Amino acid sequence: DSGGLVDRFGRRAVDLRVSLTERCNLRCTYCMPAAGLPFAPDDALMTAAEIERLVRLGTARFGVRKVRFTGGEPMLRHDLVDVIARCAALPDAPELSLTTNAIGLAHRAGALRDAGLRRVNVSLDTIDPGVFATVTRRPFLDRVIDGLEAAATAGLAIKVNAVLLRGVNDALAPDLMRWCLDHGYELRFIEQMPLDSDHAWDRTSMITAAETRTLIGSSFELLPDEAPRDGAPAERFRVLSRETGAFLGTIGIIASITESFCADCTRTRLTADGHVRSCLFSDDETDVLGPMRSGATDDEVAELWRRAMWAKPRDHGDDSDDLVHPTRGMSAIGG
Ligand code: GTP
Ligand code: 5AD
Ligand code: SF4
Repeated sequence: DSGGLVDRFGRRAVDLRVSLTERCNLRCTYCMPAAGLPFAPDDALMTAAEIERLVRLGTARFGVRKVRFTGGEPMLRHDLVDVIARCAALPDAPELSLTTNAIGLAHRAGALRDAGLRRVNVSLDTIDPGVFATVTRRPFLDRVIDGLEAAATAGLAIKVNAVLLRGVNDALAPDLMRWCLDHGYELRFIEQMPLDSDHAWDRTSMITAAETRTLIGSSFELLPDEAPRDGAPAERFRVLSRETGAFLGTIGIIASITESFCADCTRTRLTADGHVRSCLFSDDETDVLGPMRSGATDDEVAELWRRAMWAKPRDHGDDSDDLVHPTRGMSAIGG
């Protein structure tokens, strides 16, 4: 360990997010345009062996402790089980998790678990089939629910990510919450960020964390969780029944915009085409895959990565005029 991935503001990145593809089988309105995007060609994407090499560098040199695979939809990678197995077999293997829409998870949950996956975060904004089809532009709610059930059966720890959209699924937030609490899935409500490829985001359409607390507060009592947050994006709450006072489970609220957590950020990212991205919101990307394919040594690749992270911005600006709107959308960055 040669000091880790530290930046000018003294933060140290020990959580790595690796995007496996820019493609997706849904078209969530807050993420991708209906027509899709000009996706990078397959040979521009990191191979399983290249991902393994970068994850090994991250763990061995920089003390990376957690690796999350994202996308696009990471399950569209046919070699996903291989990617996970390779990373799980590394010395000092990091904790491996997946952010997915769960379509196709019904058939793969067991194999992924056996390969070394521990946790899945499933994107699900509503359990109403019609509203699901409106948000994702695809009628696949049943497949998502089957995927979640299979993940639970396989013993994977499960979180559900929901983005609330004004006039679309916001009024259904308590229903989704009740359903997740009943199933033992930890639900997190996420403030919509300006990461839609259409660049249609605006401040007034976003449901804020404060609004979310009000929306669900009439149905449930929320007690702030006292455990340290440790750079995690979600503020967690213990949920009690308003009728009986019984403990129902835990939820989180991710207030990326109105209560940003940049000061404690521990994340470093790799895009599917092998660029280090120091921040979700910064357009600065450093190609490491190109140099790797031209014969760069581990020392050289590590140095590029370290320099990229040193330049990580302090934050993404506040929620008024100077909020950064990145050029590449969520699906290309990898959440
Ligand atoms: P765990 O806490 O490990 O379960 O995962 P996570 O919440 O970090 O990851 P997940 O992929 O489920 O992301 C949930 C939401 O947090 C998404 O909307 C992410 O874009 C957002 N998020 C993750 N990392 C960052 C970050 O560095 N900055 C900001 N602003 N948001 C982030
Ligand atoms: N704002 C907030 N969250 C988003 N996600 C995708 N696009 C956005 C956005 N514009 C969420 C997805 C997924 C997670 C990785 O990011 O719901 O669960
Ligand atoms: Fe696909 Fe996730 Fe983007 Fe929805 S949010 S289109 S599931 S990558």
